[in-house]
Amino acid sequence: MQPLLDQHGRVATDLRVSLTDRCNLRCTYCMPAEGLDWMPLDDQLSDDEVVRLIGVAVRELGVREVRFTGGEPLVRRGLVDIVRQVRALDAGVEMSITTNALGLSRTAGALAEAGLDRVNVSLDTVRADTFHEITRRDRLDDVIAGLAAAEAAGLGPVKVNAVLLRGINDDQAPELLGWCVDRGYQLRFIEQMPLDAQHGWDRDAMVTADEIFASLATRFTLTPAHEPRGSAPAELFVVDGGPATVGVIASVTRPFCGDCDRVRLTADGQVRNCLFARSESDLRSALRAGASDEDLAARWRTAMWGKAAGHGIDDPSFLRPDRPMSAIGG
Ligand code: 5AD
Ligand code: SF4
Repeated sequence: MQPLLDQHGRVATDLRVSLTDRCNLRCTYCMPAEGLDWMPLDDQLSDDEVVRLIGVAVRELGVREVRFTGGEPLVRRGLVDIVRQVRALDAGVEMSITTNALGLSRTAGALAEAGLDRVNVSLDTVRADTFHEITRRDRLDDVIAGLAAAEAAGLGPVKVNAVLLRGINDDQAPELLGWCVDRGYQLRFIEQMPLDAQHGWDRDAMVTADEIFASLATRFTLTPAHEPRGSAPAELFVVDGGPATVGVIASVTRPFCGDCDRVRLTADGQVRNCLFARSESDLRSALRAGASDEDLAARWRTAMWGKAAGHGIDDPSFLRPDRPMSAIGG
């Protein structure tokens, strides 16, 4: 087995698969209110094609972790079946989804039964009015029900991802942490990255990891968790002596590109070696032209070799990727 190695010595073992660019929320930091021009369905990989490429990644390339993202992966009709097929091809691969949890209360049981291990739920506030302000929808209760259903179905430890927006929810970090700690959910804050479709990101308006710590410290005592950070991007802290922890993912102010072990596959079958990559490698065309597993694996390795050392967000020459976050996956 030859792994997904790049010229800087990193090995990718964590595959993020976007299953659709569509979503049933309209988070202001992600999409405009009217949504986007969605990917034509003919361009999208079929369920069987997705499973085939994941099989290549797991069998030929040493991928050990598969995370389904979107858009919103729960709006992909074949999700449960895709999970079941991936589980059938490898019993040991760690499988999770990053979801907004709408509808998760109905599907958590089926996903667990099909072989999903864990969920990461995106939730930026526990106030209904702020939830509407950020997502433009009144669905907070559905998200809360989805979280509880995931926990009950054994899809834990349940993780919650939050983005703080200045003037909107940046004063709610301690409230959100208290809420998650009470329920046993592991909260991680993510610095906002320049990946929104409408190019609204502003470095100076971004809430930094240091500000997040300062805000949490007003209500909690945080001590660094002793686990080494390794390739996990979250810096982990024990909350009030434990056992609860909180993570901060300082993608912008403390980039962790040197330890990155990720590779991404878009819903239309393009390999992206980085969230911020400016180019992609087309596996779908090769797949549809009848390429063998070995050929697909070789193309995939070539795509990874050229991975850039870092994203360079703070560089004057930084250029955003052509695809927005909703078409790449988190
Ligand atoms: N910066 C940081 N995180 C983002 N997400 C979506 N857009 C951005 C952004 N620009 C988060 C979502 C979700 C995950 C997929 O990525 O809130 O948790
Ligand atoms: Fe949907 Fe996630 Fe984008 Fe919000 S951040 S609109 S939940 S894809």
